Amino acid sequence: MHRRAVSWRWPSAVTAPSQSMQFLELFVQEVSAQGTLWAFGCWLVALLVLAAAPDREGVRPRRRGASFLVLLGVALVPATVLCRSQKMSLADDLALFGSVVSGIGVVVLLGLIVFDVALARLSVGVPRIVQDVLVGVTCLLVIFSTVARAGINLTQIVATSAVLTAVIGLSLQDTLGNLVGGLALQLDRSIQVGDWVRIGEVTGRVAEIHWRYTALETRNWERVVIPNNVLTKAQVNVLGRRTGQPLQWRRWVYFNVDFRYPPSTVIDLVQNAIRDQPILNVAANPPPNCVLMDLCDSYGRYAVRYMLTDLVPDDPTDSVIRTRIYFALSRAAVPLSIPAQAVFVTQESGERSEAKRQSDAAERLRVLAQVELFRDLSTEDLESMSRSLQRSPFARGEVLTRTGSSAHHLYVIRRGRVSVRVGEGDLQTEVAQLTAGNFFGEMSLLTGEPRSATVVAIDDVECYRLDADAFRRVLERHPELANKVAAVLAERRVALLATREVMDEEKKKRLLASNSSDLVDKIRDFFRIA
Ligand code: CMP
Repeated sequence: MHRRAVSWRWPSAVTAPSQSMQFLELFVQEVSAQGTLWAFGCWLVALLVLAAAPDREGVRPRRRGASFLVLLGVALVPATVLCRSQKMSLADDLALFGSVVSGIGVVVLLGLIVFDVALARLSVGVPRIVQDVLVGVTCLLVIFSTVARAGINLTQIVATSAVLTAVIGLSLQDTLGNLVGGLALQLDRSIQVGDWVRIGEVTGRVAEIHWRYTALETRNWERVVIPNNVLTKAQVNVLGRRTGQPLQWRRWVYFNVDFRYPPSTVIDLVQNAIRDQPILNVAANPPPNCVLMDLCDSYGRYAVRYMLTDLVPDDPTDSVIRTRIYFALSRAAVPLSIPAQAVFVTQESGERSEAKRQSDAAERLRVLAQVELFRDLSTEDLESMSRSLQRSPFARGEVLTRTGSSAHHLYVIRRGRVSVRVGEGDLQTEVAQLTAGNFFGEMSLLTGEPRSATVVAIDDVECYRLDADAFRRVLERHPELANKVAAVLAERRVALLATREVMDEEKKKRLLASNSSDLVDKIRDFFRIA
C-alpha cells in the first residue's frame, strides 16, 4: 500500500534554537494540519448550544461520546509531535487517526445541534433512525475524505481486495439487515413510536426505533430490545389500532355462574351493572357486553367484553369490571360458581344455623336501632320490621336510586357512604352525604312520587332494604311516626329546593312548616291510614 506524505511533513532540517521551541513549532504545525483548533472550537460551541437547549432523551450520552472523540483527537496531537520528533513512522498514523476521530466527533455534535436543537425548536420531528443514518453517512464521508487527503484510496482498497470486501460484507450483513429493516418499518409506518405492540410473549409500547433495534417499554418497566431484522420477519400485533377508529382495545373478563341461574338473568344483571354508570377508561361506544361463552361441567362460563381506551391500566380496569360483576351478582343473590371438583363440607347442625340466624337478627336490630326515626319504637316493632329487611350491597360508584325513577324501597345504610345528588350528567350537585345509620328513599316510598334525587355509592356500601308493605305495617301500628318522617322529609325537600333557587332563612322556615303538614296528609293518604 502506497501512502502519500501529508502536507505538514516534518522538515528535514530543523534549525530551532532549542528543543522546546522546536516542539512548540511542530505542535502549531500539527494543530493547523489536523484542523484540531477547528474541531476544538466546534466542540466548545456545540457544548454551549446544547447546554442552553432543553434536555432531550438520548442527547447526553451522544454528546458525551462525541466529546470523547474530539478530545481524543486533541490529546493525540502532542503524542504525534513526540513521535515525529523521534522520527517514528507511527506519527503519520496517529495524525490520521486523530483527524478521523475528531472529525467524527464534530459530525455527531453537529447532528445533535441540527436535529435535537434547531429542528426540535421548529417542531420538526425527524425519526431517530433517519437521524442516525444521516449522521452515519456523513461520518463515512468524513472518514473517506480525511483518509484520501492522507493519500490513501480507501474505495480502491475495499473494491480490489476480495478478502476485505468479503469480510466487511459478512460482518455488515446483520447490521445492514437491521438498518434496512428499521428504515422499512419507519417508511411503511407499520409500527410507530408510541404504538402498543405484542411480539411473541412481549407486550409493550414502542419507545424508540433505532438504526439497529426497536426498543419496547413494558408495563413492568422493562425495556425489551428487538433487532430490526427480527422484527421485519416476526408477526407483530399492533394493539388497539383500527383504520379510522379511535385507539381502543378489546378486553375479556371471565366469570362462572352455575346452571341453577338462567343465562339470560345473569347476562342482564351483569350488563346492566356495567352499563349503568360510566367506568373510567371503558369506551361507551361500542358499549361493554356480557356473553355466555361456554357450558361447562356444572356451570356456565361468561365473559364481559369491553373496549379499553387507555392501554396502560388494563388490569386495574379489568378489576373494576370484576368488582361490578361481583356486586351485581351478590345483590341478586346469584353466587359465582364453585368449581365442580371442589367439595365443600360444612357440618350444618341445628345449633349452628340457629346461632347464624340469631347473629344476623341482632345485626339487623342494631342497624334499625341506630336510625333516629325509629328510636321510639318498641323492640317487638323493630324485630318485626327487621324480619322484612333485605340485604342490598352496592359497589363504589354504583347508582342506588336515580332521579325520576319510580320507587319501591327505603334504604337503611349499614356500612359505607352515599352521595345524594341533583341535576344531570356533569351538572350534578351534591346536596348531602349519608353514612351508616342514615336512611334514604323515603320520599318516594311514602308519597308515591318519583325519586327526587340520585344516590351514588361513594364507597362499597351495604344497605338494608325495606319495602312499602313492611313500612305500612309499622305505620299502622304507629301512626305518629308519619309526623316524624314528614319532618325529615320536609327538611330534605327544602334542601333540594334550595339548590334550585336562592332562599333566605325566613323562607326556608315557612316552606318547612307548610311542607311538613302537607306531607303528613300525603303519607297518611298514600298508606290509607287514619
Ligand atoms: P327519594 O326521593 O325516594 O330518592 C332519593 C332520596 O334522596 C330521597 O328519597 C331522600 O331519601 C334522599 N334525599 C333527597 N334530598 C336529600 C337531602 N337534602 N338530604 C338527604 N337526603 C336527601
